[in-house]
Amino acid sequence: MASPDNDLAVIVLAAGQGTRMKSKHPKVLHEVGGRSLIGHIAAELALLGASRVVLVVGPDMDAVLESARAAAPGLRIDAVVQRDRLGTGHAAMQAKSALEGFKGDVVVALGDAPFVSAATFSRLRDGLRGADRPAVCVLGVRVADPGPYGRMVTTGEGALERIVEAKDASPAERKIDLVNTGVMAFEGAGFFDLLSRIEPTNAQREFYLTDAVALARKAGRNARAVEGTSEDWLAANDRVELAALEAVFQDRARKAAMLAGVTLVDPASVWFSYDTVIGADTVVHPSVHFGPGTTIGRDVTIKGFCHFEGTRVADGATVGPFARLRPGANVGSGAHVGNFVEIKNAKVEAGAKVNHLSYIGDARVGANANIGAGVITCNYDGFEKFHTDIGAGAFVGSNSALVAPVKVGDGALVGAGSVVTQDVPADALVVARGLPATSPGWAKKFRDRRAAEKAAKKKGK
Ligand code: UD1
Ligand code: CA
Repeated sequence: MASPDNDLAVIVLAAGQGTRMKSKHPKVLHEVGGRSLIGHIAAELALLGASRVVLVVGPDMDAVLESARAAAPGLRIDAVVQRDRLGTGHAAMQAKSALEGFKGDVVVALGDAPFVSAATFSRLRDGLRGADRPAVCVLGVRVADPGPYGRMVTTGEGALERIVEAKDASPAERKIDLVNTGVMAFEGAGFFDLLSRIEPTNAQREFYLTDAVALARKAGRNARAVEGTSEDWLAANDRVELAALEAVFQDRARKAAMLAGVTLVDPASVWFSYDTVIGADTVVHPSVHFGPGTTIGRDVTIKGFCHFEGTRVADGATVGPFARLRPGANVGSGAHVGNFVEIKNAKVEAGAKVNHLSYIGDARVGANANIGAGVITCNYDGFEKFHTDIGAGAFVGSNSALVAPVKVGDGALVGAGSVVTQDVPADALVVARGLPATSPGWAKKFRDRRAAEKAAKKKGK
């Protein structure tokens, strides 16, 4: 258990509507790598070991709290509502009652910047332990074009004098290339007192959190700039920036996978989610999408144009091309799932083959079973879903429909084109289709008659 003055509370500012997103959803619920922006931040804060997280949200943003909690179970996250958006200083102030009696350090983060890592948060916070005992440390980055961001006015060696917003900056200040990422660490004692002294005396008539720096200095305390990496600060204000964040995320995920021993034949065409796991020596061919919740084993071959979501694939399996594995698909070791096969909530056990044009839903396909082309599990009657159980070593002939609930026993054989509505015992043969009715010579007689009729008609004209 950390001592109270080692405790860390993080206030995440997320009350903005994100108008430039042009969306009915709050900005921080937009996703990168299959996870909301706020979810990315919550997950990092869990890694960081924050003892308290307070989200500052706008009215009607319950979903923001839910999304953060889902990404970081076990982390104590509360939400407070900021009704009027009077600026970042005012937003942070809303956390006061939620943090009543809290004694540790306070970090303020922005809800739309998902790439600040636990390591960076930690480094920023460590700045508070520096020899000059700063009351506040601010994460800054050097950028070529500082544009609309707050400029950090320093006096050598990272001592921070104040932060000036672009709109309030003099031409000389505007040239400063060290910008405020918006992430700040504060000594907990006196934090809310410091905030209460912020005044809206600026171009935007807002309570600027950044003014806390100059106010701390005025009170005889130090402030520090801590430099982060150039991607730490990336935030999404509109969908163009959101796509840029996605590109950064994908680039990192692809590199991490390759460095962990996964071959990506065409990295740029493979899309990852935040939680995708792939084992070494697996080869991923071009144009594959890994949705959330996917774990792929070692030595797996994934051919082109496959789509995964909520799926597990065991070692040595082969999938695709053009396979769709939906939530609950579980492909056993060495199994084959081929082209135009859709699998949902179904286990395909070791060595089984489902190679062509099938739908396997709510089912088990036993080890080494062989599912012919076009086999469909009819799992839904328009009201409820039912289970199909196919035993080990069974052989289901092409174009059969297995009408659930139904069982095909171990080693049983289903004749092609069957509609199976009753359980098939182990090792039995079932053929459930119309019997052949063959009329010898019928086709030839039919053709001859039709040809004669046509010739007679022509003559009569
Ligand atoms: C802020 C910083 C700026 C920094 C930039 C980095 C201030 C005054 N300026 O500017 O120095 O370079 O971030 O991105 O802090 N929010 C609220 N309630 C409010 C206002 C804002 O919750 O009343 C939230 C927003 O939802 C957003 C974050 O705070 O997540 C930042 O607010 P925004 O208005 O975008 O600040 P910037 O002007 O970009
Ligand atoms: Ca902003």
